[in-house]
Amino acid sequence: MSRRRSVFRCSDCGATTPRWAGRCPNCTEWNTLTEEVEVAAATIAMVAGSGPTPLFDVDSDAAAPRPTGVDELDRVLGGGLAPGSVTLIGGEPGIGKSTLLLQAVIQMADRGLRTLVVCAEESAQQVKRRALRLGPLPAGVWVVAETSLAAVRAAVEEVGPDILVADSIQTLFDPEATAAPGSVTQVRACTLGLVELAKSRGVATIIVGHVTKEGALAGPRLLEHMVDTVLTFEGEQHHSLRLLRATKHRFGPTGELGLFEMTDGGLRGVPDPSGLFLGDRRGGEPGTVVFSAMEGYRPLLVEIQALVTTTELPMPRRSASGLDAGRLAVQIAVLDQRAHVKLGKRDVYVSAVGGVRINEPGADLPTSLALASAALGVALPNDLVTCGEVGLAGELRTVSHMPRRLIEAARLGCRQAMVPMSAEVPNVPLDIVRVATLSAAIGLAGLR
Ligand code: TYD
Ligand code: MG
Repeated sequence: MSRRRSVFRCSDCGATTPRWAGRCPNCTEWNTLTEEVEVAAATIAMVAGSGPTPLFDVDSDAAAPRPTGVDELDRVLGGGLAPGSVTLIGGEPGIGKSTLLLQAVIQMADRGLRTLVVCAEESAQQVKRRALRLGPLPAGVWVVAETSLAAVRAAVEEVGPDILVADSIQTLFDPEATAAPGSVTQVRACTLGLVELAKSRGVATIIVGHVTKEGALAGPRLLEHMVDTVLTFEGEQHHSLRLLRATKHRFGPTGELGLFEMTDGGLRGVPDPSGLFLGDRRGGEPGTVVFSAMEGYRPLLVEIQALVTTTELPMPRRSASGLDAGRLAVQIAVLDQRAHVKLGKRDVYVSAVGGVRINEPGADLPTSLALASAALGVALPNDLVTCGEVGLAGELRTVSHMPRRLIEAARLGCRQAMVPMSAEVPNVPLDIVRVATLSAAIGLAGLR
């Protein structure tokens, strides 16, 4: 059984203290401490108790993951959901968490699993209407529109599901924890209750947690250590593209990326994303180039665009969409100092097309080349792919997974590649140009 002790937790910042006080010792808010029963962290993730067993005799098949039937979700999970595992999926409201999980339970029910959806935010009717948009509805999907943890326990008792979805953790509440729904105390108490339920009954459980843009909302961040797997679901509001990643995964790799497109009939997997990103590319204009990015273990070809204009403003504008603003500032400085491309008095806009967010150093070279191309008014070759980190001295450095990036580029029709000197290159039909510095890259790309 779990070892329990009593602590006082601040409903604002989540800090704990062994004694009650009028003011939180951590964030100094008044009247935010409430008593809660804390289970020693070590006991949280334990699978239902068993005595010592020779590892050789342990039946590992019993814990084998079961596919959800949503391919891109299974890719990220490394096969599927393991019985008794607890997965937290975080994302902004409206991004498609409920839709994704409903599609997954429909698929699993279709293959004979019993699934139970706790819809604490929507009525059963609303869930049904949504399910009907997604396709034929099999028997074996149960819903319960309840917000109390006790009701969830009773429903699990009654239905005996293989899969449980709790949507969302912020709207559930545990009557035994004396705090408002959505507060840190409640969110933790409910998660703990669901984890215990999952472990004791072997139910694969998925918990939905809303995260705001700042990532601050009471919940997901604080829960990460209590669950086995943490998934994040994200995308730009005005794009249909959705990206699913595992940021923590006890049962598999965390590097995989799942890609979906939100359509009228729910989320559709995107098995060949590069085609999607390059679909509307025109080329031939100054300021654009193809970048072979890596998202987890997946190469993605993305068009990087730059626009440079003269400005009347005393502080020229720098805007990076889908790219890192800090890295852009460095690239502008390196272009100025090491390659004599002067952008100091001009407005600069760069973007990664298609709604992806690129945060890797490999984007430096394509960003810099696109900027130089835009500033000098000369287009880069249409079939050129490029990738590499640019150092402060203007030197080019290789980045991880170069062969995979170039294989993908060749597959999608690129014919030339510009890469750092030491890059490892595969045997593909690409005309490969190795370059040592940004300045040389600008020359070799025909920009001056
Ligand atoms: P939802 O799954 O409710 O988001 P979350 O649970 O993360 O808050 O998704 C809501 C959005 O998805 C909403 O703007 C409508 C859109 N949507 C579609 O575009 N197509 C569909 O088939 C469905 C079900 C939703
Ligand atoms: Mg929802």
